[in-house]
Amino acid sequence: MKKNILTGERPTGKMHLGHYFGSLKKRVELQDEYNMYIIIADLQALTDNFDNPDKIRENIKEVVMDNLSVGIDPKKVTIFIQSMIPELAELTMFYSNLVTISRLERNPTIKTELKQKKAIFGNNGESVTYGFLGYPVSQAADITLFDGEVVPVGEDQLPLIEQTREVVRKFNSIYGETFFEPIGLVGDVARVKGLDGNDKMGKSLGNAIYLSDSLEVIDKKIMGAVTDPNKIKKDDPANPNKCMVYYYHKLVNNNHPTVCSECKKGLRGCVACKKELIASMDSFLKPFREKRAFYENNPTLVDEIIKDGTNRARIKAKEKMKEIKKNMKIDYYQ
Ligand code: TRP
Repeated sequence: MKKNILTGERPTGKMHLGHYFGSLKKRVELQDEYNMYIIIADLQALTDNFDNPDKIRENIKEVVMDNLSVGIDPKKVTIFIQSMIPELAELTMFYSNLVTISRLERNPTIKTELKQKKAIFGNNGESVTYGFLGYPVSQAADITLFDGEVVPVGEDQLPLIEQTREVVRKFNSIYGETFFEPIGLVGDVARVKGLDGNDKMGKSLGNAIYLSDSLEVIDKKIMGAVTDPNKIKKDDPANPNKCMVYYYHKLVNNNHPTVCSECKKGLRGCVACKKELIASMDSFLKPFREKRAFYENNPTLVDEIIKDGTNRARIKAKEKMKEIKKNMKIDYYQ
């Protein structure tokens, strides 16, 4: 029997290179070996976008198409929408007894996000909702309802996996062996830096290359990428480690070793180097764009993939919920 993987994302925008190297690439590699579920976490997205439901709705298909574009095979992988599985809400409620508020406040992922929110709202967190603070509990439900044993995610998600493991241990110790303790699996490149040199590529940071970016957009973004500020003239020697162009050459250009030595010796001007990267980036992303275009032109096919996946996910969810209720002794009149 194949082991289960559960992974997924919030539908808040299109996916970028950070998502690809952090998690999507691993998914594609593992889709044969594992029984894989991909959750489109609309309810989780609403925890901090509850006042912007259009944004979440509009991005569901975008995120699904991003997954399909990089090679996720909908025949092998079950892609489903979180809010269409009511058992997830039930399990979140059951788990809410097993997690303390102080533990949630100490969760490093939540802590970072709360800091960012306080910076945005400029208050002492009075606007932090119960739903937002509790989203790790809901994520624990996502993973465990589908018997997820392995969770390919970006590095920032590891504290959420740890939180899930704690919930599982507590649940199993009280109600008997019911769930696996999942392990998080981070891609070979844990974190992809942004075009501006920021440690993290992020939607909200405006420093991302999206998987669906056109050649024109890639061109513009790479021409504006951060390079070694000490290199003024095109034949000045420079430090490639201070240069985002070199950084992306390493990610997507197999011939990158010459880039480094030529740059250090002043044999490579930044404009030529950027042009070369634009070409490499474009050939790297082109197959994704082409596959995406196929689905964009067949929107009902994408709907079918989501509906079919959600139906399959509901069958699994119902089955697991029976076992959970039995173990919790709330399986009345069944
Ligand atoms: N928290 C993830 C994100 O921000 C989305 C997500 C929801 C998820 N449920 C999950 C990821 C379960 C892995 C497993 O994108």
